[in-house]
Amino acid sequence: MSANFAFLSTPKTPEAPSLLRDLPAVTEQKLAQDYAGYFSYQFTDSVPFLSFSSFLDGKEASFSLDLTSGTIAYRRQHGGGRKQHIAKACGLKHNWNPTILDGTAGLGRDAAELRNLGCSLRMIERSPFVASLLDDAIQRARQAGVALFQTNFSLHQGQSTQLIQSLSQQQQPDIIYLDPMFPPKSKSAAVKKEMRLVKLLVGTDPDADVLLPVALDNAKYRVVVKRPSYAPYLNEQKPSMSIESKGNRFDVYVLSSPSL
Ligand SMILES: C[S@@+](CC[C@H](N)C(=O)[O-])C[C@H]1O[C@@H](n2cnc3c(N)ncnc32)[C@H](O)[C@@H]1O
Repeated sequence: MSANFAFLSTPKTPEAPSLLRDLPAVTEQKLAQDYAGYFSYQFTDSVPFLSFSSFLDGKEASFSLDLTSGTIAYRRQHGGGRKQHIAKACGLKHNWNPTILDGTAGLGRDAAELRNLGCSLRMIERSPFVASLLDDAIQRARQAGVALFQTNFSLHQGQSTQLIQSLSQQQQPDIIYLDPMFPPKSKSAAVKKEMRLVKLLVGTDPDADVLLPVALDNAKYRVVVKRPSYAPYLNEQKPSMSIESKGNRFDVYVLSSPSL
């Protein structure tokens, strides 16, 4: 781990998650300010949650992940429906709940959405920092008793190109879903803050193009690539079709159709 991040460790907080154990430990918040950012445990109703903080424009900014509130929880409770663009892009039907490998898990939002729609999800995230934040959110959702995330929702930390190529034929997913980083255009304050922190953690995914041929060789039925509307096709490869969403586009590469 080369990044200049620290872990704020206090007697009252849990020890660092395994993927962050190599980070330098600091015992006081003011010492953490010497680093580009730091991880720490905060508490809500005595439940610890992992958070990442950094100084943006001279002000401390933090973020953590939560699969039990906000849009994810709303959709879980009220249903998002298969009319959603992401559902259409994955070709979901009432009698087809595919296995999906999300090769760029990130904050886990799209994966949670697809799980909510009935799919089985395996997620891969290469950044140990983002994977730690996401794993923390998954464990909290499970402890809170959210059944949806207890099964068919797993996260592996690693490089997708390698992990996907090591799958046996039996392990091949129906769909591979990709959403690599692309420089944002949005100036919205909320997006900006979270995106800036995520970018600090993972950079820009300059090698994103190589994901597509690997995915196309290893998915059974289709590969779905989420891009900002203004972004070119991944690997400059034209999809079978594109589904426009608000600010985003789902490029769909159809390989074959499931016999239902
Ligand atoms: C834009 S984010 C994904 C956001 C996600 N779709 C969501 O809903 O939260 C892209 C993520 O993909 C990860 N990533 C990029 N290339 C990867 C690769 N080859 N293997 C594993 N993870 C990768 C990055 O570290 C980053 O966290």
